[in-house]
Amino acid sequence: MAEALQKLILDTLEAETTIKDTRSLILPGQAQPASSNEDQIVILGALNSLLSRDMIQYETHEVITHVNTVEGGQILKDGSHEARVWSVLPVKGHGEPMTPAQLKKEVGEETAKVGQGRAFKNGWINKEGAGLVKAVSEIEDTTQKDLQEIASTGTLKAGEKVLVDLRKRKLVAQKKGQWFTVQKGPQFSTSTAKPETDLTADMLASGSWKTATYKKYNFEAEGIPTSGGALHPLLKVREEIRNIFLEMGFAEMPTASFVESGFWCFDALFVPQQHPARDLQDTFYLSDPKRALPPNPEYYKRVSTVHEHGGFGSAGYRAPWSHEESSKLLLRTHTTASSAHMLYKLAARCRGEEPQDDTAEFTHGATSTTGRKGDTGKNDDGFRPAKLFSIDRVFRNETMDATHLAEFHQVEGVVADRDLTLADLIGFMRVFFSKMGIEQVRFKPAYNPYTEPSLEIFAFHPMLNRWVEVGNSGMFRPEMLEPMGFPKDVRVHGWGLSLERPTMIRYGINNIRTLVGHKVSIEGIENSPAVMF
Ligand code: PHE
Repeated sequence: MAEALQKLILDTLEAETTIKDTRSLILPGQAQPASSNEDQIVILGALNSLLSRDMIQYETHEVITHVNTVEGGQILKDGSHEARVWSVLPVKGHGEPMTPAQLKKEVGEETAKVGQGRAFKNGWINKEGAGLVKAVSEIEDTTQKDLQEIASTGTLKAGEKVLVDLRKRKLVAQKKGQWFTVQKGPQFSTSTAKPETDLTADMLASGSWKTATYKKYNFEAEGIPTSGGALHPLLKVREEIRNIFLEMGFAEMPTASFVESGFWCFDALFVPQQHPARDLQDTFYLSDPKRALPPNPEYYKRVSTVHEHGGFGSAGYRAPWSHEESSKLLLRTHTTASSAHMLYKLAARCRGEEPQDDTAEFTHGATSTTGRKGDTGKNDDGFRPAKLFSIDRVFRNETMDATHLAEFHQVEGVVADRDLTLADLIGFMRVFFSKMGIEQVRFKPAYNPYTEPSLEIFAFHPMLNRWVEVGNSGMFRPEMLEPMGFPKDVRVHGWGLSLERPTMIRYGINNIRTLVGHKVSIEGIENSPAVMF
């Protein structure tokens, strides 16, 4: 229909140049001109489609049209009240005249009442004794005819006087309508072929692009939102935290090895070999390959000795050393395993070895946080201060719930310098957390096998209105640092926190599964705002 109607409009324009009044069009499949409002609405659709392709131009004209009321529609169907009264009466001399009571029964009270009066006025019926009879043998029901004309044309040729009368009788009502005059547009053609919306390789190859008609650009259109990549909230928070470390002069440690040995994850940190954290319940062990390559034999000996027999002022654990435990491969349970690697490398010069390339950039230009002089020259013991950080993934064999997954991210900072004190650590953490927007922090004594003293960090959460644990920290033990080769006056302190915790607080997420895993909504990720501390 839409296609045929467009074709009709174009063909009419081709033949007659203009369409003066769209009410004169005879729509496809219809016998009468399109004079009703409904018809004009259909025509308007076709006109707009042609206009968008510049094939036509049109002007709109407002008109008042008439439509039948419910009562008018009834008359259209069954005839006027007067006609219905006339039709049930007998012809004079043919049968008994009809009594008013009978008439009421025949056509209903309303029709009998209204119809009698008008039928008398028209001279259609007569009184005969106590009853009524037909006065004429034929009538013309003009009311029904008028309503028919109005239904199909929206108006009456008979004129306004009759319309006013029909309105008064509540048989018709006025309605606003439109009709149109139509002219050819700049892109006029009688072909309704859809204009091209794209220039394709095929069109270029065949040369059809030269003769094709093209749809005009709509510069007002809003366009489809582009769907680019989006950063996960964890990555946004990671970037903010990374920037905090960088502006505090920290260098990022390499943390690519998710798989570590028991030696680096625990032994080097002076974690006893019987420590519950090393249990199958807490740590994922590799089944293939099972064993790590041995570390430097001399360092390994120093570490196993300090565990078994003590040394460097320590009594040790005095428990038999297990090489098997030490060589087990596992998924690292904390990034402190990577920190241990880096600290061991950092101490290379102190051991009289050439430092490896990847430590040079961490110590180069680093200034002592204590301002102590004499790090180079005659008495140089090889130590260089360093401030290191990492943000990466760790794995724990935990029961999963709303706040725990088997893997998460740790943020870790490590500072190595001579004569550092606990106050230095606390000072660093105050600055660090305040840069994350956490001003109120408290420290609570805690226990870590590898640090002494150790502090848990609590921050006041204004939304939760309570103190929440945000991290763990401490001064690394001499049992860990001295076997690496660090001079006695070198202190290393460190602190760690999870990346997920502050991210969940930032984004108001209370179930970790809405942040990580298969239940994450991609839309949520795409719409997550940037974080600014
Ligand atoms: N490794 C500790 C943890 O997993 C964090 C920490 C890092 C503590 C450095 C002290 C020093 O919670």
